[in-house]
Amino acid sequence: MKVAVLGAAGGIGQALSLLLKTQLPAGSDLALFDIAPVTPGVAVDLSHIPTAVTVKGYGQDGLTDALQGADIVLIPAGVPRKPGMDRSDLFNMNAGIIRNLVEHIADTCPKAFVGIITNPVNTTVAIAAEVLKQKGVYDKNRLFGVTTLDVIRAETFIAELKGLNVADVKVPVIGGHSGTTILPLLSQVEGVSFSQDEVESLTHRIQNAGTEVVEAKAGGGSATLSMGYAAARFCMSLVKAKQGEEVVDYAYVESTGGEADYFAQAVRLGTEGVVEILPYGALSAFETQSKNDMLEGLKKDIKMGVDFVHGE
Ligand SMILES: NC(=O)c1ccc[n+]([C@@H]2O[C@H](COP(=O)([O-])OP(=O)(O)OC[C@H]3O[C@@H](n4cnc5c(N)ncnc54)[C@H](O)[C@@H]3O)[C@@H](O)[C@H]2O)c1
Repeated sequence: MKVAVLGAAGGIGQALSLLLKTQLPAGSDLALFDIAPVTPGVAVDLSHIPTAVTVKGYGQDGLTDALQGADIVLIPAGVPRKPGMDRSDLFNMNAGIIRNLVEHIADTCPKAFVGIITNPVNTTVAIAAEVLKQKGVYDKNRLFGVTTLDVIRAETFIAELKGLNVADVKVPVIGGHSGTTILPLLSQVEGVSFSQDEVESLTHRIQNAGTEVVEAKAGGGSATLSMGYAAARFCMSLVKAKQGEEVVDYAYVESTGGEADYFAQAVRLGTEGVVEILPYGALSAFETQSKNDMLEGLKKDIKMGVDFVHGE
């Protein structure tokens, strides 16, 4: 298994790479690419950890080498939020970065599973898809927006609120990855019931948890450690699927459900990527209303990505 991390020297990139060095199956290769000069040093640092995963660092000119033979590519490259910024404020800086990196993926490892972490995910996934289509290598089953952070936040906050063992809490989170497009389905959490006040305040907290971190870091960036964990967890789902295990996880993928062209929901994964998009089941009245209210915004985010690639 070869996993490439693009943006590996950043806050998320370093945390993610550390976890992958300790979690990937023995014999795996971990390729770290970043434009930051420290990247080879991050790789040397990680290479001293005694696991059977080989780590190599690639600077500025090493993108093609980093991607050569990659089975999975994870992209946390780009600029994070500062207080007062919305994820959509990152569009101008991050759209071009994603386009460039995905062009290289199309040329070098077009069959790789690609996990996009760079915000705004609602839009950057659409950019990636359009670039892959232009290159004639798009496969909707292999492109994922990583929304695992929303899932782990929902699990954590519900376990805290209800005094549960967090390992037992499973929460479907659907929609997108920004503000109200993040929709936790609290009505489907097994064995727990919530008052309407709890539903509203928990939903709001899960949707704004990223801002909680941005404000607490006071200008020092956004979630990196919890995101590194989330991305590693999602990557391990992809690894298991590639190895032939049947895995179900949540991701923002091309949707066939008629809601929006891309939508986060549970997907069954196999060796070739998404095998099946699982229905999200019955929604409560609150969830139905929230979904209907956010769809227009999600569609706008997606259109922005499509338009960016086609120069409109
Ligand atoms: N999907 C999510 O749930 C989620 C959660 C948190 C943050 N994010 C997003 O992840 C991204 C990274 O966040 P961070 O906190 O790690 O930022 P960071 O600034 O700490 O790291 C970003 C890294 O990307 C590198 N980079 C910039 N341009 C590059 C390029 N063209 N090629 C390769 N590397 C490049 C930088 O050198 C830097 O090392 C941001 O866009 C942030 O909004 C997503």
